[in-house]
Amino acid sequence: MTQLVLADRVAGLAPSPTMTLDAKTKALMSQGLDVVNLTAGEPDFDTPQHIGEAAQEAIRHGDTRYTAVGGTARLKAAIVDRIHEDTGLSYVPEDVLVSVGAKHSLYNAVLSLTNPGDGVLLPVPYWVTYPEQIRLAGGEVQLVNILNEHQGVLTRGDLERAIQPNSRGLILNSPSNPSGAVVGRANLEAIAALAIERDLWVISDEIYARLVYDGVKALSIASLPGMQERTILINGVSKAYAMTGWRIGYAAGPSRVIKAMANLQSQSTSNPTSISQAAAEKALIGPQEPVEEMRREFDRRRRYAVSRVQSMPGLQCHEPKGAFYLWVSMEPAVGRTIRGRRVTTADDLALLWLEEANVSVVPGSGFGVPDHFRMSYATSMDRLTEGLDRMEQLLGE
Ligand SMILES: Cc1ncc(COP(=O)(O)O)c(C=O)c1O
Repeated sequence: MTQLVLADRVAGLAPSPTMTLDAKTKALMSQGLDVVNLTAGEPDFDTPQHIGEAAQEAIRHGDTRYTAVGGTARLKAAIVDRIHEDTGLSYVPEDVLVSVGAKHSLYNAVLSLTNPGDGVLLPVPYWVTYPEQIRLAGGEVQLVNILNEHQGVLTRGDLERAIQPNSRGLILNSPSNPSGAVVGRANLEAIAALAIERDLWVISDEIYARLVYDGVKALSIASLPGMQERTILINGVSKAYAMTGWRIGYAAGPSRVIKAMANLQSQSTSNPTSISQAAAEKALIGPQEPVEEMRREFDRRRRYAVSRVQSMPGLQCHEPKGAFYLWVSMEPAVGRTIRGRRVTTADDLALLWLEEANVSVVPGSGFGVPDHFRMSYATSMDRLTEGLDRMEQLLGE
């Protein structure tokens, strides 16, 4: 039988490293086992009703045809207003591109700014998709280790240690998935100064900016002096409005870059779904109370989960200030033997928890840190409690 030769760009593409565990989790669930799934990367809430109704209205009105490639004029106007309200930044519709989820916005941005051989600085831990997108563009992933004492918050010093002569850009994700760390003003100003000195572009993924806690505000690096012209701001409706399935993300930045990204999109996917665009418009300009309600509930679970994890022997975590994940070090548990199995990495621990206690978390190897794991608190308080009980019981053996 003929063996088709795969193109290099996909032959070397890593599948999501969390897939094995994910497949196992689903297999156990399909056997009817009561697995507590703490891997979710999406809110457990339904999309608020008024947003769904806007989509139904769009169908009734016949808004079911191609739209402008980069999004409807109405949605772009809503994005401009939303960004202004949240960050103080002023954009015009030509500076905005609507895509099929923030992941797609990121892909358009990375492909439009990275030439083969260009270095792209990537703080660790990173969201699993970034390194693969950089590699797809032919870029060189330049990992930025954050010193332990910084508690997961990126500093200028961390970047200075990693920067190379071929570094062209930085992917910044604050609040971070997986760590929940939020970069505060002083650090952000120092990072911005470095970006200007070294002429770096910044892709600023702000998808979790509305989900912040303890009075912390997620500041956009684009809002600092001299930064709007070198930043592509990425956001979307997936996380803040519980709209992961609707697939709407957006980018805002210098119109020349946005135009290039739109050209790329015009030759690959064209416009995102017209109906989802109508829903996203409603989400952004309609009542914002549901966002605050969800945020408050996430915060309640966050505080509970942190206190539980911090009291478990063998685990350590900082209090995350944003997103809906705990980023937990299992380093104190390294080398232990539980139920006859030696635990050396978070992959081992995650597999042990899954098979012996039916609770599922995401090992940190995919985020660049094998002795950490990510657990999501985007699940009900009951399930969260049950999952933490099971984890604690097994660790205590
Ligand atoms: C940091 C980060 N950026 C982007 C995305 C992608 O969002 P979307 O579902 O809108 O493509 C995610 C989703 O998990 C994420 O965690």
